[in-house]
Amino acid sequence: MNKKIFGKPIITQEAVQKRIKELGSNITRDYAGQELYLIGVLKGAFAFYADLARVISLPVRVGFILASSYQGATHSSGKVKILSDIVDDIKGKNVLLVEDIVDSGLTLQFLNKTLKAKKPKSLKVCVLLNKTEGRQVDVDLDYIGFEIPDKYIVGYGLDYDNKYRNLPYLAILENIHE
Ligand code: IMP
Ligand code: MG
Repeated sequence: MNKKIFGKPIITQEAVQKRIKELGSNITRDYAGQELYLIGVLKGAFAFYADLARVISLPVRVGFILASSYQGATHSSGKVKILSDIVDDIKGKNVLLVEDIVDSGLTLQFLNKTLKAKKPKSLKVCVLLNKTEGRQVDVDLDYIGFEIPDKYIVGYGLDYDNKYRNLPYLAILENIHE
């Protein structure tokens, strides 16, 4: 039988928290004196988003998009669906999109296009994990937590089949043959 388990921790809880504080300081500095609208991409970004929002010292408004692209697989289907859109008007606002991980770039490319159509004043992207080896389309990333190898990651919001999101650290998902 082919069973998937999470094995090696790749990034510890302490390392994640430390890096998020640094990202929060950079974002606070870059948007000094301005308001920020933080859009989290659910479900994967929920843990990162909650921690990041609390280390940004600016007037922040929160919003979420529920998007889906993997549908139970470990590779992007390329077809991104918005299952639930943001409810506020972002026209003329500084928007920072908060995403868990960028792999092929297809999800982000689609979300960027969708959000730009809503005419924000600015649109930047903050991702926790960047898997450059999987890239199929060019995307601009403004804030990156960690560069990671082309492995399937779970924990800290990231899932396999909607499981393991509550792991407090990041781990590599492995195939076990029994
Ligand atoms: P992309 O469209 O290929 O860039 O994939 C982006 C989306 O796929 C992310 O928002 C994640 O939800 C999901 N994803 C990509 N790689 C992983 C992974 O290693 N673990 C869990 N989810 C992933
Ligand atoms: Mg995601």
